[in-house]
Amino acid sequence: MKPSLIGIAALLLCGAAAAQTSPDLQARAWAASCAACHGTDGRSRSAIPAIAGQDKAVLLQKLLAYKQGTLPATVMHQHAKGYTDAELERLAAHFSRQAQ
Ligand code: HEC
Repeated sequence: MKPSLIGIAALLLCGAAAAQTSPDLQARAWAASCAACHGTDGRSRSAIPAIAGQDKAVLLQKLLAYKQGTLPATVMHQHAKGYTDAELERLAAHFSRQAQ
């Protein structure tokens, strides 16, 4: 059976709506990959810095600097390069909303 155009349109609309909702579910999905090092929702209890509840502008500034290579890093320059600037802003917004 061929998928109907209406069905496809409905799926696209759902995707667009999901991207707009708060909390940002797409950013949350990306953030799952950060949890391995930064802890659940960025609440690290290890030597790796906790990023939950930090100021959004500060988080974004660091992520952009890692991406550009202007902030020294062991691993974060690699991670930051995997995202567009707009995606890094959504990640920064996501972690700034998490309780510390
Ligand atoms: C492999 C482990 C690892 C992963 C995965 C990881 N990080 Fe990091 N992160 C680090 C380490 C280690 C540092 C300290 C800087 C460095 O050495 O790279 C850091 C530093 C940071 C900082 C700066 C924190 C501060 O207070 O200075 C931010 C922001 C950050 N990471 C965000 C993220 C985001 C967002 C993700 C997911 C897209 C992520 N990290 C994934 C290990 C990781």
